[in-house]
This record gives sequence, structure tokens and C-alpha cells, in this order.
Amino acid sequence: MRVPRAIVALSSLAWATSTQTALASLSDGQWSLGEGFSLHRKTGQLEITKGNSSIWSTVPGKPFISASAGNDSVVGSSGAFKITEVDQDTCQDQSITGIDEIEWDGTVTGKATRISGELLKCGNASAQYALTFWVSNDLSDRVAFYVDISSSATSSGPLKKLYFRFSSSANEDFYGLGGQGSFASLKNQSIPVFSREQGEGRGDEPITSIRNANGSFSGGDEYTTYTGIPSYISTDSKVVYLSEKSTGYANFDFTQPDEVTIRYDSLSVDGAFTRANNLFDAIEALTAYTGRMPALPEWVDNGAILGIQGGQDKVNGIVEQGLSDDINCPIAGVWLQDWCGTHPQAGPYMNISRLWWNWENDEVLYPTWNEFVQNLRDQHNVRTLSYVNVFLANVSTKTTGYRRSLYDEASAAHYFVQNTTVNDTAVVSSGPGIEAGIIDLTNPGLRSWFEDVLRDQVWDANISGFMSDFGEYTPVTTDTKLYDTVSDAFFYHNAYPSQWAEFQRGVIEGLNLTSEALLFHRSAAMSSNRNMNLFWVGDQNVDWALNDGIKSVVTIMVHMGFSGYAQQHSDVGGYTTILTYNNLNITRSPELLGRWGELAAVSSSVFRSHEGNIPQVNAQFYSNSSTYSYYAYNARLFVSLAKYRRNMLKTESEPKGWPLLRPPVLYHPNDLRARNISYQSFYLGEHLYVAPVLDPQTFEVDVYFPGDANRTYESVWTGVVYKGGEDATVPAPYGKPPVFLVNGVRTPELEPFLDFVKKENGTKLSVD
Ligand SMILES: *[C@@H]1O[C@H](CO)[C@@H](O)[C@H](O)[C@H]1NC(C)=O
Ligand SMILES: *[C@@H]1O[C@H](CO)[C@@H](O)[C@H](O)[C@H]1NC(C)=O
Ligand SMILES: *[C@@H]1O[C@H](CO)[C@@H](O)[C@H](O)[C@H]1NC(C)=O
Ligand SMILES: *[C@@H]1O[C@H](CO)[C@@H](O)[C@H](O)[C@H]1NC(C)=O
Ligand SMILES: *[C@@H]1O[C@H](CO)[C@@H](O)[C@H](O)[C@H]1NC(C)=O
Ligand SMILES: *[C@@H]1O[C@H](CO)[C@@H](O)[C@H](O)[C@H]1NC(C)=O
Ligand SMILES: *[C@@H]1O[C@H](CO)[C@@H](O)[C@H](O)[C@H]1NC(C)=O
Ligand SMILES: *[C@@H]1O[C@H](CO)[C@@H](O)[C@H](O)[C@H]1NC(C)=O
Ligand SMILES: *[C@@H]1O[C@H](CO)[C@@H](O)[C@H](O)[C@H]1NC(C)=O
Ligand SMILES: *[C@@H]1O[C@H](CO)[C@@H](O)[C@H](O)[C@H]1NC(C)=O
Ligand SMILES: *[C@@H]1O[C@H](CO)[C@@H](O)[C@H](O)[C@H]1NC(C)=O
Ligand SMILES: *[C@@H]1O[C@H](CO)[C@@H](O)[C@H](O)[C@H]1NC(C)=O
Repeated sequence: MRVPRAIVALSSLAWATSTQTALASLSDGQWSLGEGFSLHRKTGQLEITKGNSSIWSTVPGKPFISASAGNDSVVGSSGAFKITEVDQDTCQDQSITGIDEIEWDGTVTGKATRISGELLKCGNASAQYALTFWVSNDLSDRVAFYVDISSSATSSGPLKKLYFRFSSSANEDFYGLGGQGSFASLKNQSIPVFSREQGEGRGDEPITSIRNANGSFSGGDEYTTYTGIPSYISTDSKVVYLSEKSTGYANFDFTQPDEVTIRYDSLSVDGAFTRANNLFDAIEALTAYTGRMPALPEWVDNGAILGIQGGQDKVNGIVEQGLSDDINCPIAGVWLQDWCGTHPQAGPYMNISRLWWNWENDEVLYPTWNEFVQNLRDQHNVRTLSYVNVFLANVSTKTTGYRRSLYDEASAAHYFVQNTTVNDTAVVSSGPGIEAGIIDLTNPGLRSWFEDVLRDQVWDANISGFMSDFGEYTPVTTDTKLYDTVSDAFFYHNAYPSQWAEFQRGVIEGLNLTSEALLFHRSAAMSSNRNMNLFWVGDQNVDWALNDGIKSVVTIMVHMGFSGYAQQHSDVGGYTTILTYNNLNITRSPELLGRWGELAAVSSSVFRSHEGNIPQVNAQFYSNSSTYSYYAYNARLFVSLAKYRRNMLKTESEPKGWPLLRPPVLYHPNDLRARNISYQSFYLGEHLYVAPVLDPQTFEVDVYFPGDANRTYESVWTGVVYKGGEDATVPAPYGKPPVFLVNGVRTPELEPFLDFVKKENGTKLSVD
């Protein structure tokens, strides 16, 4: 039953009551939503409060819902997408015609409160809207919302997008929205939510301009990311998110001092708001909805995961060398992405090695794959990880042979995303010479066939996981066809990463491998975290740069942590190696490899290296005894922190979603300097503060120590004690990334680390 409670109208951006009857029924102007939440109508403003805390409010005198016509323009190429927002006939005004209580399932009161009215001056048109609020039974600490706008034709075409605006304050800072790599606070930015190749450079020059020249956009910009997630947490401990079904293109606009506007590419959207006591509780509240990352297998604590390519003999040799007394590298596993074979792809100066996306072992590189995997395990307690992605490539030209062409089978069965223009597989390119299809996860037939493939020829070797690559490539054009055509391809695009993670998780659950398997993804979306036990921050350039080099790794982990991804890591050494035009090569130095290993050891839940995409021009950990010794030292440092990390994972990450790497703002939300730190320093849990070295030839770092003067930070290397509020220049030779014990607390879990520091204080490292 509908119970009309009030009628008001908002015209010309001001509030006015339309009728006498409306006036009478508006006397209290308050609607209870349950659990202490209530909606209030004040002059020119609606507000939701709980007790004396404001949860949500409209911006006085401004429309809170709007809409526009116009198709956003999206151009895609090899996973890079350029989006141009197009708004026509944006509605200029809004009226409120009623605030009612209506029946609503699953809420604490059995009801919801609905604000309805009209969007006005949308060119020649107007449209009905409803904004509904309720408190659900299963998550009663927050207010859920649903915005719905009726379709309406303007002279530019139908209304297509909605805007949802609410108030903020000039001193509210924002974090989250997925893998943001360029900013500390997102205040003053307008952040698109769309998963895609992050680009090579992302604003670092000159590579970004080179890559974006002549109509290409493979350089990306400061906003391109593999993982866009429509959720944020603010320094007011406010949590705002869209539901996991809301996979349409979204944009969160924080450019106005006193408002936030969510632009969403559909006429309806739902989500929730809440306000927690502090930022930790806010992460717990967010992850109560999204779910939390499943437990990380214990074996990852044992040492490094060596990224190697080149075949069985090479791998065995490098493992044996690492385990020798000389090198003394703790090795938890090897990660062999070329298990399926490689082929050269033409690039400037030299060919780049690419993988054959056909999930079986290559008989030249890994002729006795299953035995080889088992031997590493039996002889050295070393696990093997391989590589799988969302594509299957045409292997008809594979010169080292194949037993089964998955591409041919999937093409025949229409298991790929289809192209209606050519009435065939939508061929996805990833540079020249690769012809592949993207598997259609909306097709139950594909799922069951691919699960068999994974069981019979991937997991059948006694592997312990793989890089679960890609997820951000699904085309968005109108000639893209999915098996399940409920939504268009543009709307579906952001759902793919979650379906990919959920599918892979289902396979390992079916095989009873959840406590052994490590699957790492770079592409994720709202709620993918509940289906992946490790996030990897994607492909960075092998350099020191801000937007796409080593520094961006920390920034991405910060925002992913605020998005509910507690367990993260990066490719130690980076990935993207560039041999390109005049006077520009980006290749990995031994120093970058060493410092990146230090960073991983003191920030990440897994230590795994990558050779990069042109291994032969990069320093590798196995290049010589200096590089291997530095790498082994970093791996020992990582292992010394294992007890400390594991305790945090069990007591904080798994039950509450708290990340391991914690930016200073998490503990010091009122400290304006802390709010602006993206990569310069962070906490690893509560007891360690870290200021990593992320620049070349740098042997001291300037560190800001947040907090009151009674807070102490004791350098584990020198014993010098710094105080909260202080700035200091701290020594940072190779192997000694500045790490500080906070407030003198030495928990038992920290003992192995403090022992390492004492024992290895004299270890000499070099980057020759
Ligand atoms: C808000 O209410 C809580 C208890 O309901 C009280 O402890 C707190 O002091 C109040 N804060 C303000 C600013 O009134
Ligand atoms: C907008 O997209 C729709 C399909 O979603 C298409 O029918 C229409 O022609 C497009 N309008 C313009 C102006 O491109
Ligand atoms: C607005 O104009 C378009 C075409 O010019 C027309 O189709 C539509 O019906 C008009 N809308 C209203 C509400 O008059
Ligand atoms: C946002 O802009 C305001 C006004 O220019 C400035 O005071 C504030 O520091 C900026 N915040 C961030 C995080 O950029
Ligand atoms: C862009 O085009 C110009 C003119 O054709 C050419 O000289 C230049 O090399 C191109 N740049 C890149 C990065 O391809
Ligand atoms: C690069 O690979 C192509 C095959 O894709 C081959 O024809 C060519 O000789 C290779 N070039 C170099 C420099 O190895
Ligand atoms: C599309 O291809 C299928 C075979 O894969 C064929 O049966 C069907 O007739 C084709 N449709 C059109 C419109 O050509
Ligand atoms: C379908 O094929 C046409 C012609 O090759 C191409 O222009 C279009 O981009 C393709 N679309 C998809 C979704 O692959
Ligand atoms: C599943 O694996 C665990 C070890 O990880 C084992 O203890 C358990 O017995 C297995 N369950 C089944 C049904 O095989
Ligand atoms: C870039 O690397 C290529 C291949 O190693 C080399 O030939 C070229 O001289 C390098 N260019 C610069 C500017 O270092
Ligand atoms: C440090 O001082 C602040 C006040 O400046 C106080 O609130 C806090 O409890 C003190 N902390 C410790 C550990 O003494
Ligand atoms: C490490 O050695 C330096 C001198 O070489 C000494 O000052 C420092 O106290 C030592 N640190 C630890 C933790 O033993």
C-alpha cells in the first residue's frame, strides 16, 4: 500500500510548496527509515541522519537528480578505450511532487521512503523520477538507495544517463574507486569507472605523448586503470558505493568544493551510503557488502616466487643456484608464464616475445611438464605457477606444435564473444600477429567446456595457481554480441572481470584447491574481491616514474585497499620495457630491480618477480651474482615479516577487510599532510611505518612522521627515534629501506624481522 505523506515542489532551484494540503502534511518533515536513520526535509534541503550524524544530504537549492541525452563515444583498440562523455539536453530543473512510504521487501520496517517528482527543462522534454531509500535487513547499518528515471525523448534523442548529486564539504578527501595510480586524495578530480588497459605512461613523459601520438591512445592518462570500482571512502568516514549489478560506465565527480556528483550511464542505479566511526570501520562496512578476499595460501610466506621463462633446464638451473649456500634465496615457487609456448611479435629494434594462448604445455620448452612440476615440488619444496587468460589464440601457425586447438573448438561452438557485422568471432587483437577470441562467460556451455579444459590440462599438473590475466578487453560496440543479451556490451563491459574471477574461483572450489591455489588478477570490479585471493597491480613501466613506474605501485595499492582489496602485490622489477623512437628506451636497471624487491618485501603479501616483456634487455635477478644476491636478501627480508603479515591477515584482513599496506591517512584522517601522501610512506599494519626508496641513486629519504609528539618512530636499522609531527632525512642504503617501529611496540610476530635486521645489518649489496 502506498501512503502519501507530503507533496513539495522544487522549481527554479528553490523550494516552494505547491498546495495547501501539501503544507499541512509537511509539518514534521521527517520520515523514519528504521535503525535510527531518518530522512528530514529542511528549507531547500533533504538530509538523512542517524542520531546527530549526517549520512547524506542534498546541496541546498540544487537538483539532486538530473539526466541527459546523447551517446557517450567510446573507441577501443587492443584493450585501450578512449571515452568521450556526450551530454545533450541535460535537465536544468527538478520538482518534488511527493515523499511517500511504500512497501518494500527485505527492509527493517517493511517499507521504503520514496521521493518522486519531475526532471524539467531537458531540452523540450521532462521526465518522471523516483529516489527511494531504505534500510535492509541484512545490512542494517546503512541506507540503500535506488534512482529510477522514466524514459523520455528530447529533440536530441532519448534520455540515457542520470546524475545523482549530494553534498560534501570543502575539507572532505576521497579514496578508493579501484586502481587509481596518480593521486593521493581524489578530491578535485573527476574519476571515470571503467576497466581497460591502463596505458604505457599514464601521464609520465615523454612516453605518454609518444604512445598517444597520431590518434593512438595506448599511452593512457592519469585516469586509465585495469580496475575501476564504484565505491569510495572519505575522511568523514563516509562510505558510498553502487551495487555490484551497477556495471554501467560511471564517473565520480569530486571537482566541486561542496558536492559530489555521480554520473551513471543508465536511467536507473542503486547503491548505499553509510558513515562509520573511523576509516577502518568504513573499510569493514564496505567489505561487509563486497565480501572479503579469501585466505591467502600459507606457502606464499615461504619465500620468493621466481618469474622465469625459457624452459625446464633454465628453470632448474636458476632454482638450484638460488638454493645454494652462496645465494641463499628462500624460494616458495616459480612462475612460468611461457609454459604454453612463445612466439615473436615484431617491435621496433627487436621482436617481443608473446605467449601462445592455448592452455597446454609447449612440448619444446616444457616437454615433460607434469614430471618437471612434481620434481620441483618433491626435490625442493618449490611450487609451480603457470599462466591462463580470457583469450584463446589461433595456433595454426605455431611452429612448436600443439595437441589441441582450443581456438578452433571454441570458434565452432560459438564460445567466443561474437561480432554481428561479420557473423563470427569478435577477433581481439593484442598487437600484430595475434588472432584471438575472448571467451563468452555469459554462455553456460563455454563455462562447462572451459572448466573441463582447466581441470584436464592446466590443474592436472600439480601446479599451485596461475596469473589469471586480462578481463578488461570486452568490446563495447553495438555489433558485439554476448550469449546472454540481457544488457548491451557497453553496460556489460565492467561485469566481465568479476565473472572471470568468480568462474576461476568456482573451478578451484570444485577441485578442492582453495587452500593451495594462488590466483592473481589485475582486473577487477565491485565485489570481485570475494573471488580472488590476490590482486596484482598490473603492468608498470620498468622505471621510477610517478604515474606508471614504481611509485604508482604504492598509490594503486592505497586506493585498492580502500576499495576492499587487502591482499596485493606487484611484478617485482615492473613489466613494460620500451625500445622505441629516438632517444627513448625504458629498460630495467639492476638498481630498480633491487629497490623494487625492497618495496615488495615491506609492503606486499606476495613476493613475485617478472622478467618484463623484453627480458633480454632488462636486468634479471639471475643476471649475475650481485643481482641474485640482492634479490635473495629481499626475499629473506620478506620471509622475516611473514609471521607479522600472517597474523594481520588472520585477525584483520580476513575478518574485517583491512589492507596490509595502509596509507598514513588511514590512521591520521585529520592530518592534512597525511591526506596528501600517496607513495612516500605507509604503514605495514599498525606497528611498522615505512618510507621506501623509489628514486635512483638515492641513499637518504625525507620522511614525514604523522601524529602527536608523543608518538614515536624508531628506525629498526639505526635505532634513532623520531617523533610524531617531525620531518627528518633518514639514511637508506641498499637493503635498508627506512622502516620504523611505531610507539616502541615489539610484538612476538615481529621477532623474526628484528632478528633479520640484527643478523643482516652488515650484509653488503651492490647493483653492478
Ligand atoms: C552525538 O551523539 C553521541 C551519542 O549519541 C554523543 O556521544 C556525541 O557527543 C554527540 N556529538 C555531538 C557533536 O553532538
Ligand atoms: C545512440 O546509440 C543508439 C544505440 O544504443 C543508436 O541507435 C543511436 O543511433 C545512437 N545515436 C547517435 C546520435 O549516434
Ligand atoms: C521533443 O522533440 C522530439 C523531436 O524533436 C520529439 O520526438 C519529442 O516528442 C519531443 N518531446 C516532447 C516532450 O515534446
Ligand atoms: C582541492 O582544491 C582546493 C582549492 O584549490 C585546494 O585547497 C585543495 O588542496 C585541493 N585538494 C586536493 C587533494 O588536491
Ligand atoms: C606521427 O606521425 C608523424 C607524421 O606522419 C610521424 O613523423 C611520427 O613519427 C608519428 N609518431 C608516432 C609516434 O608514430
Ligand atoms: C621477428 O619475428 C619475425 C616473425 O614474426 C621474423 O620473421 C623476424 O625475422 C624476426 N626478427 C628478428 C630481428 O628476430
Ligand atoms: C551466421 O553464421 C551461422 C553459422 O555460424 C549461420 O548459420 C547463420 O545463417 C549466419 N547468419 C547470417 C545472418 O548470415
Ligand atoms: C566486427 O568486425 C568489423 C569488420 O571487421 C569491425 O569493424 C568491428 O569493429 C568488429 N566488431 C567487433 C565487436 O569485433
Ligand atoms: C580437501 O582438501 C583438504 C586439504 O586442503 C583435505 O583436508 C580435505 O580432505 C579435502 N576434501 C575432499 C572432499 O577431498
Ligand atoms: C635503445 O635500444 C636499442 C636496442 O637495444 C639500441 O639499439 C638503441 O641504441 C637504444 N637507444 C638509446 C637511445 O639508448
Ligand atoms: C598523546 O597525546 C594526545 C594528546 O595530544 C593524547 O590524546 C594521546 O592519548 C596521547 N597518546 C599516548 C600514547 O600517550
Ligand atoms: C647496524 O650497524 C651500524 C653500524 O655499522 C650500527 O650503528 C647499528 O646500530 C646497527 N644496527 C643494528 C640494528 O644492529
